[in-house]
Amino acid sequence: MTQTAPKKTILRALAGETLPVPPAWMMRQAGRYLPEYKATRAQAGDFLSLCYNPELAAEVTLQPLRRFDFDAAILFADILLICQALGAKLWFAEGEGPRLSTITDRSGVMALRPAGDVHETLSPIYETIKILTRELPAPTTLIGFAGAPWTVATYMTAGRGTPDQGPAHAFIASDRAGFAMLIDRLTEATIEYLSAQIEAGAEVIKIFDSWAGSLKGQDFDDFALKPTAAIISALKARHPQTPIIAFPREAGDRYIGFAKATGADCVALDNSVSAFWAAENVQKDGCVQGNLAPRHMVEGGPELITETKRIVKAFSGGPHIFNLGHGITPDANPDNVLRMLEAIRG
Ligand code: CP3
Repeated sequence: MTQTAPKKTILRALAGETLPVPPAWMMRQAGRYLPEYKATRAQAGDFLSLCYNPELAAEVTLQPLRRFDFDAAILFADILLICQALGAKLWFAEGEGPRLSTITDRSGVMALRPAGDVHETLSPIYETIKILTRELPAPTTLIGFAGAPWTVATYMTAGRGTPDQGPAHAFIASDRAGFAMLIDRLTEATIEYLSAQIEAGAEVIKIFDSWAGSLKGQDFDDFALKPTAAIISALKARHPQTPIIAFPREAGDRYIGFAKATGADCVALDNSVSAFWAAENVQKDGCVQGNLAPRHMVEGGPELITETKRIVKAFSGGPHIFNLGHGITPDANPDNVLRMLEAIRG
C-alpha cells in the first residue's frame, strides 16, 4: 500500500483543523514590490500580455516562493479578464489602473457574449495552472480565483475603478432587473471559469468581492451574498472536494453568518475588522483568513511583529490562514515579508 502524503497545511485549515502554526500566504504576493516581477512584466510587454502568457504567468506565480516559504501560491491573472472573455474591451493604462468599455443599461448586458464562450479567451489561464501543477513545490497549495459578480460589475459599469462604485449603484437605481441580468451573466460565466480552473489543477478557489462593503441591506443580499452562494453551490455540485474562500471585503457586520449563508469553507477578513471580534463572531463558524494591514509591509518596525503576533494569537483557538487584509502594495519592503513569516512561525 502506498502511504498517502500528509495533507497540505492550507487544506487542513480549510477542512476546519486548528493548527499550532497557521499556514500563510499574501494577497498580491506576485507583484510590483518584487524587482523580478517588474523584469518579467517588461519581458511580456505589458500586464495583460503577462496574464495571457502561460510560461511567464507561471514564472511570476513562482517568484515569491523562491524568496519566501509561503504555504500557497495564487495563480497569476486578474479578476477583470472575464470582462474581456464576455466581449468587453479591457486595457491597463500605465500607472492608472484598469480601463474598460462601459455597460450602463440592459442593452449593454444583452450585447455580451454567452457565459459558455468565456473559455475561448481564458484558455491560456488554464494552461498557466497546468504548468504550475508540475512546477510548484510539493507542500504548496495552488489557489485559483475570480472576482465576485458585484465587484466585476462595478468595473464594467464605470469603465474603471471608482471610490464609491457610483455607476453600479446608479444602474441598480434606474433598472434593478437589468442590473440583475448583468449579475446573472457574470455568475454563470464565473462558474464556467472556476470549474475549468479546478479541472486544470487549482486546489482551492478564492472569490474576491473587493467592493462588497458598498452594498447595504437588501442590495448586499441580492448582489453580494446570493451570487456568491450560487457560484459556490454550482462548484460544490461539480467539485465537492475543492474548498472555497470568500472575501466580501469591508462587509463589516455582514461578515457574521457569511460562510453559512454562502457555503464558503473560509471567510477572508479585511483589516478594518478587529481580529478578536472576528474570532468570536466569524471564526466560530469555520476557517478565517487575514487580517494584517498591508501598511506594515511598508513600515516594518516593532509594530509589524506585535501586530502579526496579536493576529496569530487572536485566531489561535480555531482554523486560521494568515494573510494580509488586502494586497501587498508596490512600495512594500520584501524584508518585512520575511520578518512577518518569522513572527508567525518563531
Ligand atoms: O498575486 C496575486 O494576488 C495574484 C494575481 C492577482 C492580480 N489581481 C494581479 C494584478 C489577483 C488575485 C488580482 C485580483 C484583483 N484584480 C482584484 C481583487 C483584489 C483586490 O485587490 O481588491 C481587483 C479589484 C483587481 C482589478 C485590478 N487589477 C486593479 C484595480 C488593478 C490596478 C490597481 C493595482 O493594484 O495596480 C489591477 C492590476 C493588477 N492586478 C496588478 C497585479 C500584479 C498590477 C499591474 C501591474 O503590474 O502594473
